[in-house]
Parts: sequence; C-alpha cells; structure tokens
Amino acid sequence: MLRNSKSGYGWIAITFHWTMALLIIGMLSLGLYMHQLPQTEPATFQLFQLHKSIGFVVLTLAVLRLFWRLINPSPRLPDGMPPLEKAAAHLGHAGLYALIFALPVTGWFMVSASPWGIPTILFNVLPVPHLHVPAALGSQEEAESFFKLLHEYGAYLLIALITVHVAAALKHHFISRDDTLNRMISAAPGKTDN
Ligand code: HEM
Ligand code: HEM
Repeated sequence: MLRNSKSGYGWIAITFHWTMALLIIGMLSLGLYMHQLPQTEPATFQLFQLHKSIGFVVLTLAVLRLFWRLINPSPRLPDGMPPLEKAAAHLGHAGLYALIFALPVTGWFMVSASPWGIPTILFNVLPVPHLHVPAALGSQEEAESFFKLLHEYGAYLLIALITVHVAAALKHHFISRDDTLNRMISAAPGKTDN
C-alpha cells in the first residue's frame, strides 16, 4: 500500500517520515556541534557546507512530503482519544511541518544576508542562488544576526517539539497500547483497521 488510507499511513508517507526524522536529528546535532568549532578552520568550513547541502535536501523533501500529504487522506487518530488530545496532536504535527520548512529557509536567508557572501554549492556540484534580503532589516550584519537568531531559536523549538512528539508516540505504544506507532512503522493493516 503506497498511499495513505483513513486508517493508516502508506509506505511513501512512512519513508518520508523516517528519512526526514533521521536527517533532521542529524542536522540538529551537526548544527549544535559545528557552532562550537573555531570558525576559521578549513574543517569547520567543510562542515558548514555539508550542513547547508543536507539542509537543502531536507527542504526539497519537505516540499514533496507536504504535497504528498495534501493529495492523500490523513489517517484518523484513535477513536477513544479525547478531543483536546486530538487538537494537541494536530497542532504538534502542524508545528513540526512549519519548522521543517522554517529551519532551511531561515538558514538560506542567513547565508544570503552574510557580508562574507560565501556561495552555496550543494555537495560541491549544484550552485544555489542567494535570496533577496529585505532592506528593512538593516545592514547585512544586522540581517544576518536576525536570521541567525530565528534559525537558532527555531532549532530549540524543534528540539522541544520532537521531544514531546516522541514522548507522545511512546505513551501511545506502551501505555495506551494503541496502533499509533505501529502504523508509522508499517503500512500493513493494523488491529484498528476496518
Ligand atoms: C533541517 C534543516 C536545518 C536544521 C535542523 C538546522 C539546524 C541548525 C542548528 C541546530 C544550528 C546551530 C545553532 C546555534 O547554536 O547557533 C545551525 C547553525 C547553522 N545553520 Fe542550520 N539547520 C538547517 C538548515 C540549514 C540551511 C539550509 C542552511 C543554509 C543554507 C543552514 C545554515 C546554518 C549556518 C550557516 C549555521 C551556523 C550559524 C553560526 O553559528 O554562525 N542551516 N543549524
Ligand atoms: C525529526 C523528527 C521527527 C519529525 C520532524 C516528525 C514529524 C512528524 C509529522 C509531521 C507527523 C504527522 C504525520 C505526517 O504528516 O507525516 C508525524 C507522525 C508520527 N510520528 Fe513523527 N516525527 C519525528 C520523529 C519521530 C520519532 C523519533 C517517532 C517515534 C518514536 C515518531 C513517531 C510518529 C508517529 C507514531 C506518528 C503518527 C501519528 C499519527 O498516527 O497521527 N516521530 N511525525
């Protein structure tokens, strides 16, 4: 089953979910690690380039994933789930979606605003143009600091949301003992299917 149904995720949504989860957790770790390194070292420069390249892979996957989600049914949340918990789950998913776009986009604006003008060449092959940075944001340094702040706090918010998201998934699996986690692991019909 490639497509989602009302009762479960299809293999395409599942592959998007876990590929992106791995890439995003890797990117958060890489970002926090490289931020502490001496900025003038050539090895640091290479890590920044890798971070930018993978960031664009995440952005491309985010666009494809959102498109796939819009043309597929969304699986229903478990029937017995209280309305407030359902609303929290929807809000959490919307927040995760918003941040998997916001992180790469603020990163892209940050490097576009930088007075260093370092080009972005994905995996040393594909050049990516700089974005137009609104003049209202002030000098290049000011605009760069603004996007750096958004990128950094966006990353902290994403870490917080992922933590709650994972805790909720584990609670469903081990305490409520419903199919929520199983249906994000396998597209095979689960016990709540009808
Ligand atoms: C999923 C996508 C991304 C995630 C999760 C992510 C995450 C992070 C994190 C956690 C940091 C460290 C923040 C700090 O402590 O200040 C960081 C730094 C950085 N990111 Fe990203 N990032 C993403 C995409 C991008 C993209 C697409 C670009 C550029 C095109 C980019 C450019 C940068 C740069 C230049 C820094 C270093 C800022 C500095 O400390 O000077 N990031 N990122
Ligand atoms: C970077 C990490 C992650 C992100 C950005 C993320 C994002 C999302 C999003 C946006 C959804 C909504 C469904 C969709 O449209 O695809 C979702 C569903 C789900 N995620 Fe994650 N996720 C991450 C990591 C994890 C991890 C580590 C687990 C498990 C421990 C997990 C378990 C689930 C489950 C069980 C669902 C299905 C919920 C339902 O049935 O409605 N996620 N995730």
